[in-house]
Order: sequence, then C-alpha cells, then structure tokens
Amino acid sequence: MTKLGLAGGALAASAVAGETSAPEARTDSGLRVLLVNGSPHMEGCTRTALNLVAEELRAAGVEPEIFYLGTAPVQDCMACGSCKKSPGRCIWDKDCVNELIARARKAQGFVFGSPVYYGHPSGRLLSAMDRAFYAGGDAFAGKPAAAVASSRRAGSLATLDAIQKHFTISQMPVVSSFYWNEVHGFSPEDVMADEEGVSIMRQLGRNMARAVKAYAAVPAPEPAERKFTHFIR
Ligand SMILES: Cc1cc2nc3c(=O)[nH]c(=O)nc-3n(C[C@H](O)[C@H](O)[C@H](O)COP(=O)(O)O)c2cc1C
Repeated sequence: MTKLGLAGGALAASAVAGETSAPEARTDSGLRVLLVNGSPHMEGCTRTALNLVAEELRAAGVEPEIFYLGTAPVQDCMACGSCKKSPGRCIWDKDCVNELIARARKAQGFVFGSPVYYGHPSGRLLSAMDRAFYAGGDAFAGKPAAAVASSRRAGSLATLDAIQKHFTISQMPVVSSFYWNEVHGFSPEDVMADEEGVSIMRQLGRNMARAVKAYAAVPAPEPAERKFTHFIR
C-alpha cells in the first residue's frame, strides 16, 4: 500500500483497452452517452461511480456505453502533426485512442471518469483525452460532457478542472450535479457507502439525460468566423 493509498478495486488480468460494456438494451431515444473509465481498475471506484450515472441514463431512455481504457500504456501526444494531415485519426495506432474516437462519433454525450492521482487525473486518461480531442475533436465538439473524480480523500476539484478544460475549448456544455461530481473511496464498497457521492452521481445521470435530449433537439448554430492568432500578432 502506498502512502496515498492504492485503490483496492479489481485489476482484471484480461484488462483489455477499449473493452466496452454491452448495452443491455437499445433505448427508444436512440441517444447514447459514452462513459470513459480512466482507471486501471476495470471494476473499481471510478467504474462504480460511472455505473450509477449509467443506471440513471438508462432509466431516462438514454443508452450508456462504458469504455474502459485498460491497463496497457497509453501513449501521450507526440505533437507530430500527423492528425492535421489526416484528420480524425491519431497516427499512433497501438493503443485504445482511435477506438475511443470511433466510439465518440456514435455518442451524443460523454462522462469522463478518473481516479485522483497526486491531485490530478490518471495519466492514461489525460493522454487519451489529449490525443482523442486533438486528432478527433469533431467527434466530441458541441456535445454535453461531464467529468467525474474518485479519490480516497483529496484532489477531486483539480482533477475535475483538468478534465473539463478539454470540454470548454470544444464548445461542449459541462453537465453538473447538485455538488461537484466526486465520490470518495478506496474500494467500490466505500463508494457505495458514500451516500452523498451516490446521490450526486444519480442526479448527474438525470441531468446528462436531459442535456443530451435537449441538445439533440436543437440544431447547432452557424459557426462564427474564427480567427486564429498568436498573442504576438
Ligand atoms: C498513484 C496513486 C495516487 C493517488 N493519489 C491520490 C490523491 O492524490 N488523493 C486521494 O485522495 N487519493 C489518491 N489515490 C487513491 C485513489 O484516487 C482512490 O482510491 C480512487 O478512488 C481509486 O479509484 P479506482 O478504484 O477507480 O482506481 C491515489 C492512488 C494511486 C494509485
């Protein structure tokens, strides 16, 4: 056990990146929310929080799909610029990021969940988000999104902030709950005992369902002319 406390959630031997939950049943609305588990624990605290959001989505007629990033290394962005020449894909095809972009294209909303590591999101989630948003930003742009943080004790707000920065540079409305989207625990049982955290996740699921339905009903505005300048000009 580390000083900070290593979470005790299941670390599946067959932890395959990109493994997704089988949607239980297709919902009437045809709307889907992709819930990204940025923990190496497939069935840990973060997944427990995402499951609560997913239950509420399903109850509201929105299909939840959980996308697990796995335990294999996730490459960070090499800033090679290849995705600017071939938009929509990252040239690094040896991990789950292109699959994440493909799944994102089929979703109308997102929840990105992370354990708190030294007061910030997991490296795998940040690397995956940087590359997915840089190479496949159109798959995410303009769609409602929420961040969820699971910590044993502290660091959730900085974690949520880091995740949400991807949304707020991508025209994505940020979905919230009646408190910041955090749960606390060292094990899934702890998370379920965090009654306030559980209620926050349930409200988040309901708010996300409303957000994706509302955004699906109203067309996106005509884009304003965009300027791209550096501060020195
Ligand atoms: C490398 C590492 C760093 C951690 N840093 C923190 C921290 O800064 N604050 C905290 O409260 N918990 C910290 N934890 C504990 C986890 O964030 C916490 O147990 C979380 O709920 C685990 O979620 P998971 O089961 O989905 O992986 C850390 C755990 C690890 C492995």
